[in-house]
Amino acid sequence: MPPKPRVPRKGHMGRDDTTVASLTAKRPTKAKKETYKPKAPVVVEPEEIVAPKEEQALVDLFTNAFSPLLTSESLKERIQTVKSHLYNRDYLAAFGELDNLQAYVVRWSPARALCYRWIFMEGACDEISRVFEFGGRRNKKVRNVVSIGAGAGGELVGMIAAVEEINRDQDLKEGTTDEDKSQFCLKAVDIAAWGPICDRLLKTSKETLLSKESVVNVKCEFLQHDVLASDFPADIINQETDLITLLFTTNELYTQSLPKTTAFFGSLREKTSPGCLLLVLESAGSYSTVKLGEDKEYPMGWLLDYTIVGKDEETAAARSNGWKLLKKEDSKWYRIPAGLKYQLELESMRFLLRVYQRV
Ligand SMILES: C[S@@+](CC[C@H](N)C(=O)[O-])C[C@H]1O[C@@H](n2cnc3c(N)ncnc32)[C@H](O)[C@@H]1O
Repeated sequence: MPPKPRVPRKGHMGRDDTTVASLTAKRPTKAKKETYKPKAPVVVEPEEIVAPKEEQALVDLFTNAFSPLLTSESLKERIQTVKSHLYNRDYLAAFGELDNLQAYVVRWSPARALCYRWIFMEGACDEISRVFEFGGRRNKKVRNVVSIGAGAGGELVGMIAAVEEINRDQDLKEGTTDEDKSQFCLKAVDIAAWGPICDRLLKTSKETLLSKESVVNVKCEFLQHDVLASDFPADIINQETDLITLLFTTNELYTQSLPKTTAFFGSLREKTSPGCLLLVLESAGSYSTVKLGEDKEYPMGWLLDYTIVGKDEETAAARSNGWKLLKKEDSKWYRIPAGLKYQLELESMRFLLRVYQRV
């Protein structure tokens, strides 16, 4: 009988023992077949995109000003109602009731205000941005702006943001009262009864966007008028007006009356003085055409240029209408910055842009 092999002591791995151990070791048992278990996917959390703080503050302003409405059950339905009126270009129905106005403002004004802030600060041209720039504290300046169709507050909020941000670096002399400051005066004109909404947005914007140290005092007066009516007060737009805006409003005017809208634009020359700017934005696409009769459609940009500047590009015949074209784009984008937090959708916008200057 062969001698019993020495069983190596546990843990002792001397050379000889190893040899013995390897000789006597049991044959390795067949490795158990492992059943395939898919690995859990490694979830890489996308880094949260933080929205630019100025834009987030602007959007938050709407959240603060309209918080109960934003969470109300009936809001979605009301927005749908307004949307279908707008789709049918039935603007009087869309803006005819306070509930509709409130639904419109929470749904569309935040994105509009973001776009307008950008337009006023850099997106249009230097001449427009200069309206919001007040220079040194020593020379008190007054700027007068008339915004047609501006009841929904997008213009007001965009303008306050632009005034604040463009003039932020300037120091305010201690003890300066609001009346001693430079003055930014906006007349927001609209046919619909936007007064209470405009007031609420002015109050919240002044509390949250405009710093106490701002060198500029912002005033906003809401005026309910039909700009196409014969009794539209002649002095709302006047020789002191620095800027007139029609932002996403021109199509509505043309829908109401092409001759009256043409006459309205025609009247601006007499009322204003050289240097005054006229800014028009309108949705690109179907809203940027104007129907004349049953079968004729004009591109709105062409119609505006022809009415205001008086130059027919096809015949190169220029009339002297008292305005020059400073900037013209038929399809411009404003893209909503990533990461903005708001209860409802914020949409990027494509639009036509015109800037004219009185000569
Ligand atoms: C599509 S909304 C645009 C509102 C705002 N500018 C914005 O960008 O959100 C058009 C505005 O023009 C106003 N409007 C329409 N016809 C008008 C008229 N004849 N006179 C004054 N405002 C008018 C409407 O009441 C409405 O508030």
